[in-house]
Amino acid sequence: MSNLKGSIEQFIEESCENIFKEAAGRPVLCALSGGVDSAVCAVLAHRAVGDKLTCLFVDTGLMRKNEGDQVTALFRDTYAINLIRVDAEERFLAKLKGVTEPELKRKIIGEEFIRVFEEEAKKLGSVGCLVQGTIYPDIIESGADGHKQVKAHHNVGGMPLNIEFEAVIEPIKLLYKEEVRECGRKLGLPEAFANRQPFPGPGLAVRCLGELTKPKLDLLRDADAIFREEIEKAGLQKEIQQYFAILPGIQSVGVRNDERCYEETIALRAIATKDFVTAGSARLPYELIEAAAKRITDEVKGVNRVVLDVTPKPPATIEWE
Ligand code: XMP
Repeated sequence: MSNLKGSIEQFIEESCENIFKEAAGRPVLCALSGGVDSAVCAVLAHRAVGDKLTCLFVDTGLMRKNEGDQVTALFRDTYAINLIRVDAEERFLAKLKGVTEPELKRKIIGEEFIRVFEEEAKKLGSVGCLVQGTIYPDIIESGADGHKQVKAHHNVGGMPLNIEFEAVIEPIKLLYKEEVRECGRKLGLPEAFANRQPFPGPGLAVRCLGELTKPKLDLLRDADAIFREEIEKAGLQKEIQQYFAILPGIQSVGVRNDERCYEETIALRAIATKDFVTAGSARLPYELIEAAAKRITDEVKGVNRVVLDVTPKPPATIEWE
């Protein structure tokens, strides 16, 4: 399936010309999420308008291990794009303090994201144009004129932005996901970005059950990084559509240094799916599962048990909250 009439190279050329024309000399703002859609948009817009582009990256504190630094290094250092990174971890965690209800967690994150985005955009003064990474499946999913909505940061909260932009530019709105990835590769995005697995807008909040705290999120980040490393070491990262760790908040008894311990459980999930609407569990080699479990319990302080979630969707969802 494709809406393209020519090659990806032609698409890149034409889309840069269109962005240049649509921007018409005005400043351009692009929100980066760390995902491939916004990354491709940012690089296209940078090619088109150079220093007129400013990218905004809100680090919610709910990203995976080192993700914020990777985004900053790639766009600021490698591509030399004007990048504003907002370290909003404390602000998000303060709003989420004591909140355990999953939908309320999502709503608070969505609202806070919009607030931070608005504040930062206003600081820039005249913002002119917003570039956003709507892709073709987003348009289909949100109905006939759903693409007029601002997709500032995935679909967190689905709240409208309270800012009037003179123009909203959607350079990749005709592309399917695989074409976006291909475009990213042609634009020189490293494979870790071009082939990035889907990551929910509310981030680790939907994988860290119950109240969110920094120590819990750090523990989950460390376990998740080890699991991802093991999958990548086995060369399976392209075959498995999504893989991650979950902190269910279950403590159980174990033995460490000949003493009883009472520590956290980490769940691992690896997904095989074509469309994310239904999904099965990816059949991981047993050695990989064991190696990940051993490393997680050895290296992540406070974890004494690792389990594997093999439930298909339905009845389970991919994310745990
Ligand atoms: P579920 O958990 O509903 O997830 O089976 C299906 C796919 O959607 C992703 N997901 C989200 N993505 N914002 C997003 O942008 C969200 O709130 C959200 N919740 C789930 C999930 O990672 C999976 O790929």
